[in-house]
Amino acid sequence: MAFTSVLTVVGLLFVAVVTANIDYVYHNYTELTRVLGETALQCPGIMQVYTVGTSVQGRELWVMEISDNLGDHEPGEPEFKYVGNMHGNEVVGREILVYLIQYICQQYQAGDSRIRSLVHETRIHIMPSMNPDGFEYAEAYTPPTNPNETDWTYLAGRYSFFDNGERYDGFNGTDLNRNFPELNTLVYRYENTSGPNHHLSVPDDFWTGNTVSLAPAPETKLVMDWILRYPFVLSANLHGGEVLANYPYDLSRTYPNNPTAYTRCPDDEVFRELSKAYSLAHGTMAKCGVTQPCYTDDFACQDGITNGAAWYSTTGCMQDFNYLASNCFEITLELSCNKFPPEAELVQFWEDNREALLQYMEKVHSGIKGFVRDTNNNGIADAVISVRGINHDVTTARDGDYWRLLVPGTYRVTASWGGWTQEKTCTAANRAGVCDFVLGAPPTQPPSTSAASPAMPLMWSSVLAIAALVFSWLRP
Ligand SMILES: *[C@@H]1O[C@H](CO)[C@@H](O)[C@H](O)[C@H]1NC(C)=O
Ligand SMILES: *[C@@H]1O[C@H](CO)[C@@H](O)[C@H](O)[C@H]1NC(C)=O
Ligand SMILES: *[C@@H]1O[C@H](CO)[C@@H](O)[C@H](O)[C@H]1NC(C)=O
Ligand SMILES: *[C@@H]1O[C@H](CO)[C@@H](O)[C@H](O)[C@H]1NC(C)=O
Ligand SMILES: [Zn+2]
Repeated sequence: MAFTSVLTVVGLLFVAVVTANIDYVYHNYTELTRVLGETALQCPGIMQVYTVGTSVQGRELWVMEISDNLGDHEPGEPEFKYVGNMHGNEVVGREILVYLIQYICQQYQAGDSRIRSLVHETRIHIMPSMNPDGFEYAEAYTPPTNPNETDWTYLAGRYSFFDNGERYDGFNGTDLNRNFPELNTLVYRYENTSGPNHHLSVPDDFWTGNTVSLAPAPETKLVMDWILRYPFVLSANLHGGEVLANYPYDLSRTYPNNPTAYTRCPDDEVFRELSKAYSLAHGTMAKCGVTQPCYTDDFACQDGITNGAAWYSTTGCMQDFNYLASNCFEITLELSCNKFPPEAELVQFWEDNREALLQYMEKVHSGIKGFVRDTNNNGIADAVISVRGINHDVTTARDGDYWRLLVPGTYRVTASWGGWTQEKTCTAANRAGVCDFVLGAPPTQPPSTSAASPAMPLMWSSVLAIAALVFSWLRP
């Protein structure tokens, strides 16, 4: 008898855990903290919460890590991230990311094979709120006269708080999506001079504030560190105030002249495909003639996507920083005309975005991928992967693993490190084609550029190895 009731209790608990419903409500900071913790407890094998640090007012920038190997990068497995609520008053992204976390937990436990594959093959990081202070301000704010929430100028809580004790009134703080290092001007110059095309370093005057932006907010610095610490491959930054998917570059090459000029980055084709992976799978974003435009531009009739600068130029955006300072490709999603819609609409926003959120994550597995190893079969970190015809390289992660997002096709790809190079033909597909490289022995094909003597690559490799070592000591 006692035994059966124990079983019943265990059974009931099990059912309660498995079928815990998603509440389509707003989560303030207390509730966000609670729901993330509870979901991690429901799915302890695949979810854990970590923080990248605290906001100006002392709230944690929580991240839910989702992986079958928590706490560690698995060699060969790509890492993905979603960031929501960077503008504190743009809240749909924050909430659908909470629902997404709960949905993945439920479906994983229910044995959904698509979700299980995604979790087994990807390390996912979800930060529902990058600006938790702004959110609390926006939620508590009551406009003094005639609230017009769909008004573009509805800004209360958009910004993060100043950390220098300066008065913050909810309309005057740091715009986090104008607060990242402005690397576009640098790369536009390098395009003309054959300078670096990836991993650009942050200008010194960025840290104290310069003509382009205010000094970085604590939230900006924490997220920059986070972007540079993990081998992220793909990402999206969730906003509101329009409905579209926006891709790099965000700054016109002739800024401030022609501030709305289409500004191609070297991976324009890849970014268009990534953006369409989201918009075409979305309930309304690309439904031309069906979806009412938020304002005058009918983005649904251009597949729901836009180049950033073609829409309007901005400096210091997070998506261009991802692309120019790390290996990560990021787009910016605008998910609702109304930045802070009534709670009753949240369930529909979730329905409209669910499939798009999943299909976009699955894109992290497209293109080509593989390992760069030496002749002793050891992975080589920081080897450079170049694709002929695309002036933007990526680098290998700690274990020599790399991922290069590309639209399907055949490419000439070169891996190089320490003076060694190997060029191969690789085939990119929706399920990434594997293309491995071996360096450190005479390449199977002679390098097309310089026919250096055998001693040269060795010398170069020691110089570079020492440089890499010094660099790794200097890194924070
Ligand atoms: C957060 O939300 C919960 C649930 O709605 C509510 O009870 C609590 O008072 C809220 N906290 C703050 C600080 O607003
Ligand atoms: C709200 O803002 C929009 C866009 O600026 C404007 O067209 C509309 O008239 C405003 N509505 C009210 C009630 O003020
Ligand atoms: C915003 O902050 C700046 C200084 O950072 C100050 O000069 C300005 O008066 C403030 N504006 C408002 C509306 O508080
Ligand atoms: C790069 O070269 C083009 C063509 O000569 C020129 O128009 C442009 O201003 C140059 N850009 C920079 C940033 O130097
Ligand atoms: Zn925004």
